[in-house]
Amino acid sequence: MSITEEVAQKRALSSAALKAARRILNGQVAVVVGLQWGDEGKGKVMDYLAEIYDAEFRFSGGGNAGHTVKDEDGNQKILHFFPASVLRGKPAYIGRDVFLDVEKAQAELDTLRSQGVTIGPIYIDRGASIRTSWHGPIEAFTEWCKGNNAVGTTGQAIVAYAVLNAMRMRIRADDCMRTKEELLTILKPIEKALCPWFEELNRAGKLTRWDSAGKVAEDIIGYRGFLQQYLADTSKLLHDAIQDDQRIALEGAQGSALQPLWGIEPFVSLGQSNAPGAANSCGIGLKQIDTVIGVFKPIPTKVGAGPFMSEIATREECTNLPKIWPNLFKDGLERTNFLEIARHKINIGSASSSEESAYYQVLGKELGATSGRGRSVGYLDLPWLRYAIRINDPDYLAITKIDMLDGISRIRVITDYMLDGEVVASGTLPDERRLDQIEQLYTYVAGWNESTYACKSWHDLPHNAQQFIRWLEAQLETSIIFVGTGPNRDHVTIRELVDANEEAFRDLP
Ligand code: IMP
Repeated sequence: MSITEEVAQKRALSSAALKAARRILNGQVAVVVGLQWGDEGKGKVMDYLAEIYDAEFRFSGGGNAGHTVKDEDGNQKILHFFPASVLRGKPAYIGRDVFLDVEKAQAELDTLRSQGVTIGPIYIDRGASIRTSWHGPIEAFTEWCKGNNAVGTTGQAIVAYAVLNAMRMRIRADDCMRTKEELLTILKPIEKALCPWFEELNRAGKLTRWDSAGKVAEDIIGYRGFLQQYLADTSKLLHDAIQDDQRIALEGAQGSALQPLWGIEPFVSLGQSNAPGAANSCGIGLKQIDTVIGVFKPIPTKVGAGPFMSEIATREECTNLPKIWPNLFKDGLERTNFLEIARHKINIGSASSSEESAYYQVLGKELGATSGRGRSVGYLDLPWLRYAIRINDPDYLAITKIDMLDGISRIRVITDYMLDGEVVASGTLPDERRLDQIEQLYTYVAGWNESTYACKSWHDLPHNAQQFIRWLEAQLETSIIFVGTGPNRDHVTIRELVDANEEAFRDLP
C-alpha cells in the first residue's frame, strides 16, 4: 500500500481527497492551462513548477502568448516562446503544435542571455510550424474579409498557421534543412494557393508586394543556422523522459475562452489552449498526463473583439485608457492618487462603471504583453469558470493576482447568466453567438482591508481573503492550491501542503 493510500485509509478520506493527495505526492506530468481569456498568470505558475519539475514543454500557440516572469528581486523576463524552465537552466521543449517565429525566438534567447540567464538544453520539434513572410498577409486577408467583425488578433499570424494546416500546406521547422529545389516543390503550390488572396488585398490597397517562393525558400534556409542545433523529435524525447521518471510540466498558451472549438467562437485563437488538447499537441498518450492545473484571476481580462460577459465598462474605454492616461500605468503620484480616489468611490458605491473598470485596469497594469493594447477588465465570472472547469476537468485551481482585491469592501462576483429571462444551466453556455446578450446575476462577498501583497503563507492571508478562497472552492467544486499575491517569483502561497482539504493534507509527509 502506498503512503498516500495508508494516510487516506487512516483518515477514511473521500475518494476525491485520495485522488488529490496522490497527485500532489506522485504527480509526474502536469499540464497548466488558462481558464479565462489568456493572461491569467500561467507564467507565474510555470515558473513555480520549473523549480520542482525536471523540464517544461510548451505545447501550443505562438508569438501571441506572452509570459512575464519576475524573480525574487523583481527582475523581469518576458517569454513568448520558451517555457519558464529556460530561466533555470532546465530542459525546455517547444512542441510540434507551436507556431514559431524563428527570428523572434532567436531574439528572445539573445535577450535572456544578455540578461545573464544561463540557457539549458532546448529542443524544438522538427515538425513545428514556422512563420514566413507570407503568414502576415494571410492574417491581414482574413481580418480584412471580416470587416467590422474582425477578431482583433495580436498580429502574430496565428490564423495563417491554422489556414496552412487546414490546406495541408504547413511549413515545418525541419524544412530549413532542405535544398532550395526541394523547398520550391513545397512552396510553389502554396504560392499558387495564396496569390489570389494577396492580389485581392493588393487591389484593396492593403498589400503592395509579397515575396516569391524563391525568396521565401532562401529565408527558410537562412533559419538553418539557428534551428539545426535544436531540432528534435520532442514527442519521443518527452515519452522517454516520462519513462525515465522525470517530472514534466506542460505549458498551455492563451485560455479556454480562446480555444478554437470550445471557446467563444469566432473570437478565438487557434491553438489547443485546453487540457485535453495538450496530450495530442505534445504527441503523448492521454493517460500520461496525471495532473491538470487551471489558472484564473479574480479580475479577468480580455483583449481583442468578441463577447466578454462580465466586462465592467466598454472595450473602447479600456483599449484607449493607456493612450489617454499613460501616466496612470507608471509608478508615481498620479497613479497612487487615482487609485486611492477610485477605490474610495467603489467602496462608497459612487464609482461609475468607467471609474471602476479603470481602477482595476490601472491597478493590474493591464496591457497586452504582446500587443501593448489596453486589456478590458471584468468581474469574476463563476458561470464561465464552471464551464471552463467542465471542459478542462482540472485537479486543482491556481488563483493569481489576489492582491487586486485588497481594500475592496464588497467584492462583486457573477453567479449566473440569464438569457431570454431564464437562468442558464450551470456549466453550460447558451448560443455562443448570443453571449453578448447575456444578463448577469451577481452577489457581493465580504472583502478585506489588509494587504495580501507579497504574502507567502496561507496563514498570513487576511481572514476574509481565506474565506473568499474557500467560498470560491465551494462554488467551483475544485481545490485552489496556488494563490498568487504579487508579481515576483516568491509572491505566492501554496495551500496544498498544509491547507487544501485540510483533513486530507494535514501531517502528510
Ligand atoms: P490571435 O491569437 O492573435 O489570432 O488572436 C485571436 C484572439 O485571441 C484575439 O482576440 C487576441 O486578442 C486573443 N489572444 C491571443 N493570444 C492571447 C493571449 O496570449 N492573451 C490574451 N489574448 C490573446
